[in-house]
Amino acid sequence: MDNTLTLIKTVYEINQLELVAAPQIILAGRSNVGKSSLINCLASRKKLAKISSTPGKTRSLNYYEVEPHGYYIVDLPGYGYAKCSKTERAKWGKLIDRYLQDNAYIAAAAVLLDSRLTPQKNDIEMISYFKHCNVPILPIMTKSDKTKQRERAKVQSQWEDILKVKPLCVSSKSGMNRTNLWNLLDRTAIP
Ligand code: GTP
Ligand code: MG
Repeated sequence: MDNTLTLIKTVYEINQLELVAAPQIILAGRSNVGKSSLINCLASRKKLAKISSTPGKTRSLNYYEVEPHGYYIVDLPGYGYAKCSKTERAKWGKLIDRYLQDNAYIAAAAVLLDSRLTPQKNDIEMISYFKHCNVPILPIMTKSDKTKQRERAKVQSQWEDILKVKPLCVSSKSGMNRTNLWNLLDRTAIP
């Protein structure tokens, strides 16, 4: 049977945060990398998470419950959105800091990386931040339908050199590696 995803909770402000006592996998990545699209792909639903060609669409922490296992996928707002104001960026940092603080339920961060780009500074910064918080990294390369196999393999091995883990290449458009991704998430979240 397929896993199902249900949006349980949306958090915009620090004062709305409360500890959720179930394993959580963070979905992180720069704006427009395809986080919300991947949620929809995993759910096999077109409109569960809002998608936009304008970066910065997701402005909140979105908690999706995974049934039948009872863990959560938490979609974070994208980082590195150029047009986003300094105040808004600081607010992003504070919300994420607080979310990670004293949260023993975080199993890993699935960090989404654009398969068309060589490793970018802000992606590496985000990864260092998670590592600093002792959050294990699951690297995922998105939009693989847009890249040729050879080009993708090159970016994949560049990331492998940096992370010592080979990213999983996925596409929300073609469904490439969808089942493998679900298996990886289940394995990581369910002890
Ligand atoms: P923010 O909410 O701004 O942080 O963005 P996001 O990471 O949630 O990205 P989103 O899923 O909204 O996708 C951004 C754009 O990329 C949209 O135009 C999507 O249609 C497109 N996109 C996402 N995933 C894929 C993919 O696998 N293949 C292709 N070709 N396009 C994709
Ligand atoms: Mg989004």
